Amino acid sequence: MAFLEDVVWPPAPLRTERLVLREPEVRDRTAFLALLASPEVHTYLGGPRPRDELEREMPGAPTRRPGLFVVERDGAMIGQITLTEESGLLPRAAGRAELGYLFLPEAWGRGYATEACTAVLDWFTGVLPGRPVVLATQTANTGSRRLAAKLGFVEAGLFHAYGAEQWCGVWSPAAAPGPNP
Ligand SMILES: CC(C)(COP(=O)(O)OP(=O)(O)OC[C@H]1O[C@@H](n2cnc3c(N)ncnc32)[C@H](O)[C@@H]1OP(=O)(O)O)[C@@H](O)C(=O)NCCC(=O)NCCS
Repeated sequence: MAFLEDVVWPPAPLRTERLVLREPEVRDRTAFLALLASPEVHTYLGGPRPRDELEREMPGAPTRRPGLFVVERDGAMIGQITLTEESGLLPRAAGRAELGYLFLPEAWGRGYATEACTAVLDWFTGVLPGRPVVLATQTANTGSRRLAAKLGFVEAGLFHAYGAEQWCGVWSPAAAPGPNP
């Protein structure tokens, strides 16, 4: 993972007003399975994976990897955020950090995704200052588009992949929205 190879991983857990962002633990397995098998979560992501297949692949603790944060609220996992190296699918973005986010439906609409992604982008800017971050989401994914806009991502282009139009956004630390009043 070139873009995180010089970064100390894992960082100390990131704490926000309501959330903790940390590495996966054994106790997160049930929530991971619920997240990855949820048809609602995967509406714009090509559909969920079969639960029995996921259970076989994850017999114990969820795999830890650089750039993967579990989002915890009141001691329980409510979602995950990833920073991965963009693989070359997005226009002019190969090698950049790409943000991804999945939250359990019962946690939607309460600002948790905004709060958690802001903390991850702040952390990323602290460890690798000045690096832009990209994201791609189906143009039809209104919630994700709204979240991207709230975080300060600006449109970098549209492209077609996985049988649907995709919206590509780019975020720069200098252009990010300031802290809430
Ligand atoms: C995208 C996702 C993370 C948003 O989570 P969330 O918890 O609803 O986000 P927040 O509560 O922080 O809301 C962010 C903004 O999006 C808005 N929003 C969220 N879902 C929405 C929807 N379905 N339609 C319109 N707006 C929506 C919120 O109202 C909020 O805007 P506001 O503050 O102006 O009201 C969540 O819906 C999710 O996990 N979806 C499934 C996974 C997914 O599609 N990920 C994208 C992969 S690229």
